[in-house]
Amino acid sequence: MNKTVPNIVGLKNKEIISMVTAYDYPSAKAASEAGIDIILVGDSLAQVVLGHDDTLSVTVDEMLHHVKAVTNAKPISLVVADMPYMSYHIDIPNTLKNAARFIQVGKADAVKVEGGSKRKSTIESLINAEIPVMGHLGLTPQSINMMGGYKIQGKTLELAKKLFEDALLLQEIGCFSIVLEGVPSIVAESISEALNIPTIGIGAGESTDGQVLVLHDILGMKSKEYIDAKFVKRYSEQYDDTVDALKTFKSEVQNKDFPTENHSYEMGADLTESLEQWKKEIKKILS
Ligand code: KIV
Repeated sequence: MNKTVPNIVGLKNKEIISMVTAYDYPSAKAASEAGIDIILVGDSLAQVVLGHDDTLSVTVDEMLHHVKAVTNAKPISLVVADMPYMSYHIDIPNTLKNAARFIQVGKADAVKVEGGSKRKSTIESLINAEIPVMGHLGLTPQSINMMGGYKIQGKTLELAKKLFEDALLLQEIGCFSIVLEGVPSIVAESISEALNIPTIGIGAGESTDGQVLVLHDILGMKSKEYIDAKFVKRYSEQYDDTVDALKTFKSEVQNKDFPTENHSYEMGADLTESLEQWKKEIKKILS
């Protein structure tokens, strides 16, 4: 049965929620088959799929292209579309128009928005338009320039209190869950205990109500020079497997080991004679 927003909220204190990013049809199929609760079409696609240095340059059109590919897989997982940078910062009509595209055209179930009290009226307007919102607090990558890099947030008591207040506010205005990224475990734990809605952690320790990782990090779909963040755990080495498979393909092609008869097509047996005749005619023309 397809997961819904109320299903996800109902998992709080019952079952730990699993969330992964996915950006295309096959990965969404795999996530769904694996029973993953939530697929996030994250703006991390800017980096892991499109090769940008940060998430700031991905557009609504680019995100929508990937949201559609994910929902075409008809996953049982809840599909959340990440609102990219500047798609919800200008004004409310513009925000609603962009979010509506993710829901109406992309067929996502919900959207995700980064930020706390600054985004209050934005998030309220989305929820008033019946669009479920997942919040995102802590290390919010769209604020990289304001934060001065990817830095763990909430490390002083004052900043931890601000995070806590923001989390309560997001719950109060109707977010159905909150991603806590790059915050000390103890801060994530106290927020998770205080809220009635689920928290989903990434680099936020073990006490959140769920965990999320970027698909390409889980799969090890990263070249050698890439250094994983401390919170990443690789469950596979798919970049190396891909390079190995492509090397084998190349060498089989060069050695004429591929394709074999098993990978080739034949004409009907009754045509063999006329084919031989035709080959002779061609030879004559060429000679
Ligand atoms: O874009 C993304 O992948 C995210 C997750 C890391 C939460 O926002």
